[in-house]
Amino acid sequence: MQVWDPDRYATHARFVSDLGAPVVELLDPRPGERVLDVGCGDGALTEKLVEAGCRVVAVDSSPDQVRAARQRGIDARVADATALAFDAEFEAVFSNAVLHWIRDPDAALAAIRDALAPGGRLVAEFGGHGCVASIRTAFGEVLARRGIDADALNPWYFPTAEEYRDRLEANGFKVDSIRLFPRPTPLPSDLTDWLQTFAQPYLAGVPKGDRRAVLNEMRQRLEPVLSTPVGGWLADYVRLRFAARRD
Ligand code: BEZ
Repeated sequence: MQVWDPDRYATHARFVSDLGAPVVELLDPRPGERVLDVGCGDGALTEKLVEAGCRVVAVDSSPDQVRAARQRGIDARVADATALAFDAEFEAVFSNAVLHWIRDPDAALAAIRDALAPGGRLVAEFGGHGCVASIRTAFGEVLARRGIDADALNPWYFPTAEEYRDRLEANGFKVDSIRLFPRPTPLPSDLTDWLQTFAQPYLAGVPKGDRRAVLNEMRQRLEPVLSTPVGGWLADYVRLRFAARRD
């Protein structure tokens, strides 16, 4: 299970919202329009939509993150992206770095479509095909040595652009643009911090007493692949960015 702690997020994951600026740009938020932010986290990026003059509602499945977003003055609510209770209320839906956590992408797209007014925009970015492949491969090897099937613990959905375009169209969207691209991502702290922040479902599948050893082995295996000569870590992120409209 994945738990979001606002303090840990601020220390080890701030880059997620910092790198979300191009998605806001693609949304091109307009003053007065009603925007739903799906998976707002602590609201750092949602604030940009508010600053642009939008009337924003934000949802996140983590009560702690919703609390943090509310402290910024955002109208944030606890909700699962696959079960949104909105009916054609928004001119736009925005989402950054969230849709790869949703294992039922069709349920999320159907709920988002229902939240949008006809013609409303959906602009989003999330992890795409090949994202953190080296980390997933290393988990496969490190956990297999312990008789644990890493695939069964994988919490992420990283589709190709073609697959996701088909899903968007099947769920009543017209796709304006969709692009898969590598975005090597410098990590603000050690790889083990990233693993403990973002890869909790894998670690939860390991007996508690063995988790430190798993983290150390992951670090050792990935050092030749992801650590940089000047120090620091560069994770092999791949992004899928798209703009679509409710038909
Ligand atoms: C992200 O939040 O963008 C992310 C999380 C886990 C794996 C890859 C990307």
